[in-house]
Amino acid sequence: MKKQKMIVRHKLFDRICHWFIVAVGLVTFLTGFSFFYPSFQWLGAISGTPQLARFVHPIAGLMMCLPLLLMLVRYYSHNKWEKTDIAWFKSIKAVMFEDEENIPPVGHYNPGQKILFRAFVVFAIALIVTGIMMWQPYFAPYFESDAVSWAILIHALCAVGMLVFVIVHFWMATWVEGSITGMLYGKVSLAWARKHHPLMAKEHEDKE
Ligand code: HEM
Repeated sequence: MKKQKMIVRHKLFDRICHWFIVAVGLVTFLTGFSFFYPSFQWLGAISGTPQLARFVHPIAGLMMCLPLLLMLVRYYSHNKWEKTDIAWFKSIKAVMFEDEENIPPVGHYNPGQKILFRAFVVFAIALIVTGIMMWQPYFAPYFESDAVSWAILIHALCAVGMLVFVIVHFWMATWVEGSITGMLYGKVSLAWARKHHPLMAKEHEDKE
């Protein structure tokens, strides 16, 4: 059988960052949502006790958001808007029904992924800023109580928003076969790239 030609899609550093974010993100989300309602308190069991969850949550949050921002900076060049992106949105029906002949070609990322990218940037920054403002007993005393109340509200809204976008991200990643393997091992086949990201494949072929 002919061996498939493989090309690099994610560098080792980015893959380590990504799976580290997923692992620490799980701790952040579970401990964070354990504070929402008394009946959610059991979610914080991942850190031992509710008191420990309060201590662990802000540290895990920073350990998730800082590498995420670093990764987003490294992926910025792949996520710039292109003129062809509008055509992709106009063909969203073809995308959803996998009518491949009518999907306009996309580069390294499709416009749906580019929207997720922007949402992650906004949520990561908002969660860090508001999280620091409400962090007792270290930083919260430096802010007016009204400002801390706003920070708590915005932090909670951003956490829910981030969770929604992560679920969509997870769904997109599992929907496109071969995508998770790419994030695990770094390489995808040229045939996969031609099918899902034709402009990325073309760029690679032009370089050869
Ligand atoms: C178990 C959960 C997750 C899975 C299975 C997953 C899977 C993936 C996959 C397969 C890719 C590569 C997509 C491609 O090559 O087209 C990717 C990229 C990425 N993921 Fe995840 N991911 C998960 C959770 C997260 C979380 C929690 C975050 C951050 C909050 C995140 C942030 C990113 C970012 C920033 C990229 C870079 C590509 C982009 O800008 O879209 N992921 N993920």
